[in-house]
Amino acid sequence: MLYLLLLFLLITHISAENLPIIYGHFKNGTRVEICKNNTLDCSDVAESYTVGEGSKEFLIWTPFGEPGKAGEHVGNILARALRQLVINTRDKKTNMDTIKGRIVVKSWSDMSYVPICQEDDPNSECPTIMILGTTQFAYRSKQGEIKILDGYFDKYLNDTHEPITDSFLKQVYYDYNIDGHFMAVPLVLDIRLLYFNRTTFDTLNLEYPPPYGNWGTYSEPYYLTWNWEMFVSYIRKIRQHFPNDLAFSFTGQYDEEMKLFHMIIKNYYIETIDENKTCGFLNNKEKVLQIIETIIKPIFSQLGDDWYPDNEETRAFLNNNDYIAPEDLPKM
Ligand SMILES: *[C@@H]1O[C@H](CO)[C@@H](O)[C@H](O)[C@H]1NC(C)=O
Ligand SMILES: *[C@@H]1O[C@H](CO)[C@@H](O)[C@H](O)[C@H]1NC(C)=O
Ligand SMILES: *[C@@H]1O[C@H](CO)[C@@H](O)[C@H](O)[C@H]1NC(C)=O
Ligand SMILES: *[C@@H]1O[C@H](CO)[C@@H](O)[C@H](O)[C@H]1NC(C)=O
Ligand SMILES: *[C@@H]1O[C@H](CO)[C@@H](O)[C@H](O)[C@H]1NC(C)=O
Repeated sequence: MLYLLLLFLLITHISAENLPIIYGHFKNGTRVEICKNNTLDCSDVAESYTVGEGSKEFLIWTPFGEPGKAGEHVGNILARALRQLVINTRDKKTNMDTIKGRIVVKSWSDMSYVPICQEDDPNSECPTIMILGTTQFAYRSKQGEIKILDGYFDKYLNDTHEPITDSFLKQVYYDYNIDGHFMAVPLVLDIRLLYFNRTTFDTLNLEYPPPYGNWGTYSEPYYLTWNWEMFVSYIRKIRQHFPNDLAFSFTGQYDEEMKLFHMIIKNYYIETIDENKTCGFLNNKEKVLQIIETIIKPIFSQLGDDWYPDNEETRAFLNNNDYIAPEDLPKM
């Protein structure tokens, strides 16, 4: 059974006295003190971290441990948050630490698949909390490895007189509510950013995207006019004026295009899997095709042929300006 507790990420100004020491550990056995008196702006990294001298272990598994990924930096931030938890859980009488925090940076597949809390295996770790992505969570949940949090939420309410669920974003409120039980604390940490060039926008007299530009009115929400159609029309205007430059570009790896694609389709209220557990794309084929033709192709074709150097099919598709009618599509 995985003991999921709440970790309050409070990186506040902590006084330098009595600060729990954060140790960074390396696989070669070296241990170094990191972020000495520093509570802010400390970016020392290690392969795992320990904080506090108590007897109860509070183990955090944190992701992005693949070489070149930012896992150790996330670990550093967590270590500093854990410092606060060590302070908050000190014995009131003796002021001694009661917990010993340990943070281990794990790879994507370890986070998802490594067996945890195996009683018959002394080497099996039993994390107190894990920072899981949505798909990893689904797998762990299916394995029955995630503890129901209702009791902790009730305790939080009793202690603070505030429901912790009030702090959840409404968009993800029910994402981890399974069969009427809360199974996780949603934490949004993987987001996409849109950068735009103010000089270009000023030159062409384009309104900045929200929240900077003046979109929407009191009676009309901004997204009625700042939408993907407008985005495409802006790309066209920029391209016309700067024919030799990319009007739109994109940074991503792996499946990022697919994520952007999904986000766009979702903005038209088409779900990937709908309430009847069938494919929302297929059920809304005409609309999806229209979005592909009017939004996806104009945006993605801006990336240029270099984007898909080994994929002639994709290039041909993106550069094909002919509208493909739904009835002309290959039959499923
Ligand atoms: C162990 O690894 C760390 C990080 O790569 C390095 O800074 C340290 O010098 C190494 N220690 C020894 C004894 O090799
Ligand atoms: C850290 O704080 C201690 C006690 O306040 C002080 O003696 C020491 O010089 C500080 N170390 C650094 C690196 O600032
Ligand atoms: C609720 O809070 C009160 C006062 O803070 C405390 O005495 C009581 O034990 C708490 N009950 C539970 C179930 O945690
Ligand atoms: C922004 O666009 C202007 C032309 O509109 C260009 O000269 C400048 O290099 C661009 N800045 C960046 C950071 O790309
Ligand atoms: C799900 O099925 C019900 C019953 O057939 C239907 O009324 C409803 O429109 C379907 N929902 C979607 C999103 O297709």
